[in-house]
Amino acid sequence: MAKWPISGGDGMSQDERRAYWESEHADHDYEGVFSISQDEGVIGPCVDAITRRGCRRVIVAGCGSNVALQQAIAERVPQVVSVTGVDFPRVVEVAARRTDDPRIGYVGADIAVDGCGVSGDCVITINSVLSDLDEENRALLRRFREALPEGGLLAGFFATIFTPLELGYLQPDRRMLDQVNLEECRFAEEQQGITQIFYTPLRLRAVLREAGFGLTRMEVVFFDSPELADHARAYYRLGDDPDVMAWELFVEAVAQ
Ligand SMILES: C[S@@+](CC[C@H](N)C(=O)[O-])C[C@H]1O[C@@H](n2cnc3c(N)ncnc32)[C@H](O)[C@@H]1O
Repeated sequence: MAKWPISGGDGMSQDERRAYWESEHADHDYEGVFSISQDEGVIGPCVDAITRRGCRRVIVAGCGSNVALQQAIAERVPQVVSVTGVDFPRVVEVAARRTDDPRIGYVGADIAVDGCGVSGDCVITINSVLSDLDEENRALLRRFREALPEGGLLAGFFATIFTPLELGYLQPDRRMLDQVNLEECRFAEEQQGITQIFYTPLRLRAVLREAGFGLTRMEVVFFDSPELADHARAYYRLGDDPDVMAWELFVEAVAQ
């Protein structure tokens, strides 16, 4: 029995979920999604964690079609010998077309069902554990764990429901609060037309522990680069207050 399970879900089958993401990346060029993995504020902490932990074989799980992170890892971390992006098949087809570094490869898979298809000593994940189905998120994390040896690193960015909650209270019209279901950790994405789970910190810590990871770091990262701040203000219609921006949790955890 999972600890603090979240019931319900969007009712999508796993095939529908795959089709949704493949369409977002392959047919819509990922334009309808709040995208962060190209930003130095996101790349920097990941590169730093991989460097510090001496990881050589890196898996980018739920890599999407944007290749900036994979390229930065291959170019900036001298000891890295391979970077494998894993995502649904049509998504990695797009990413593979955008990469020519021989150290960077791709695996097309439903990670929750098939696993990552490769093993490594580090899994990086950026906003990819946010299915509306709690059990899928937990399955993804178990699959990440299976791809790592004991002591391997999981690092990445996780959205938390406290971000839209805070932004909602700071908005003059508090419109965003209508998109927040705090008890279920659910956020209704207006532009994507779907609902996603954004875990609270304690719940995420417990979900990670159940999947076999010991949390070593969880810190707030404000997306305050001009590009990401503008992107968030436009995407979430946040107005023009420069103190308003999106933020997420940067997490490092060790496979136990
Ligand atoms: C919000 S997007 C983030 C993409 C990328 N990490 C980025 O930051 O640009 C979530 C990604 O997770 C992938 N994903 C979600 N569930 C998955 C699963 N079960 N197997 C493989 N990929 C999955 C989606 O296809 C999508 O590319």
